[in-house]
Amino acid sequence: MKSIWKKAGMIGMMMLVLLLSACGSGGSDSANGGAKEGEKEKPVLKMATSADFPPFESRDEKGNFIGFDIDLAKIIADELGYQLEIQDMNFDGLIGALQSGRVDMVMAGMSATKERKENVDFSMEYHRSGEMFISLPDSPVKQLEDLKGKKVGVQLGTIQEEGADELSKEYGFEVKKVDNGMILVQELLSHKIDVAYLDKQVAKGYMKEHGFTGFDDPTSSSPGMAVAFPKGSDLVEKVNGVLKELQENGKLKELKDKWKLDQIEE
Ligand code: ARG
Repeated sequence: MKSIWKKAGMIGMMMLVLLLSACGSGGSDSANGGAKEGEKEKPVLKMATSADFPPFESRDEKGNFIGFDIDLAKIIADELGYQLEIQDMNFDGLIGALQSGRVDMVMAGMSATKERKENVDFSMEYHRSGEMFISLPDSPVKQLEDLKGKKVGVQLGTIQEEGADELSKEYGFEVKKVDNGMILVQELLSHKIDVAYLDKQVAKGYMKEHGFTGFDDPTSSSPGMAVAFPKGSDLVEKVNGVLKELQENGKLKELKDKWKLDQIEE
């Protein structure tokens, strides 16, 4: 008799425990906005970008971030067990956002220059490009010498801004600086600038889309693109680990094919 009551008591207790734990998890799930199981414990990785640089980063019609850098950032966050949070800002504000610790990393087709390395740390380089001058289809500008007296647009804070300032001294053109890369295209189409000077990979996309003409900058020697971090961040090594793995297992190449990036061998 005694043992039956004992058993019944134990079963009752177990049911109570099950019931309570079910209530508990239901409650915290909804408090978390219905986050997926496992997702809620993941720490957040704050990434900043300047979504005006297709095919590396831009937004679709719904406002979602898309592009090569965005896909790569998602893989990195996933591999390292983070939940990715993306912030959009002007390119010339990205280094400051890292320095002030507002974000953990930047992926924005950012070239790992010596000057930037004084203020931020970079991962290994994941892509190489170059620079191009592009203009409307009927433009007479075919080489550096033709730029004399022309208005050349660049994006603020980029290496192309710096490059154009230098080249303008020799080739006698005016430099117009805009803070958003997409505006460069609008300025070209509306004849507010004669030429845009920008990343070659991005330029090629615009040439296809709008039928622009263009030529390579024969003087350019920009370093490759890399992920940027606040100085001393322990993410540098971790992200390098993921990048190396993606390079070795061919996934990086696959991703470049998906976004139609040139495959330039080192
Ligand atoms: N590679 C160039 C630089 O590092 C241009 C990058 C512009 N990126 C962007 N998301 N608008 O200066």
